[in-house]
Amino acid sequence: MSSAITIKSASEILLMRRANSIVAGALNLVMQHVRPGVSTKELDAIAEDFAKKNGAIPAFKGYRGYPACLCVSINEQVVHGIPSRKVVVQDGDIVSVDFGVSFKGFYGDAALSILVGSQQDENKKKLLQVTRHSLLLGIEQVRAGNRVSDISDAIQSYVESNRFHVVKQFVGHGIGSKLHEAPEVPNYKRPGRSPRLVPGMVLAIEPMVNVGTSDVVVLKDGWTVITSDRSNSAHFEHSVLVTEGEPEILSEAINSQSF
Ligand code: MF3
Ligand code: CO
Repeated sequence: MSSAITIKSASEILLMRRANSIVAGALNLVMQHVRPGVSTKELDAIAEDFAKKNGAIPAFKGYRGYPACLCVSINEQVVHGIPSRKVVVQDGDIVSVDFGVSFKGFYGDAALSILVGSQQDENKKKLLQVTRHSLLLGIEQVRAGNRVSDISDAIQSYVESNRFHVVKQFVGHGIGSKLHEAPEVPNYKRPGRSPRLVPGMVLAIEPMVNVGTSDVVVLKDGWTVITSDRSNSAHFEHSVLVTEGEPEILSEAINSQSF
């Protein structure tokens, strides 16, 4: 992530709209299948199949050795949960699903969390609402002339004012002809000046929010990230284009009209 921030051309932006709308379509389909009894492996197959039928390549499989297409992270799992036949969704679970694809050389990346079943657990609902809203507040800052730190500040201050905690060991990122490009997009304040936003930049903004602590640990599988106190966690992500005006959420399915 040390190379320069890339500015996308109009034709590259078209490809990124398509990549991201395939991601959004896959996530919509996966979410329709998230119910008690489904294995996370089945969800992985649904996403892989959808991507391939739409001419896209799942981006995560093989990325630094990641073994699946989808990340499915349940309850205290923050991100990078590996799909498995043996992991079965239960009523009351928080299920976070993260998916990325490449389409004609350009990437899309998005994630969301849902609460499974009929249980009205107010604490879990609040965690999901605060995390989702923190992403929207971050996106609101995606304007030419602002800095990356405006995004970070908006997310962190909203999350902390709700007495939840942002993860600091993992961050959002630029995205384009690579899944991870410069700049890093942290969900917390860092010392020093961060880059200014320029039209044509695309950022994957992805707040990871925990109930009890910012601290996370990686399980022995080398991937699954969990909260160090085993409290619940949620994750929402969109790939967002900097324009001359309003931010454009490329991973919102509505963009499918534009190709
Ligand atoms: N959305 C995540 C990210 O941007 C997913 C990456 S999973 C990996 O980092 F397997 F590809 F690493
Ligand atoms: Co990402």
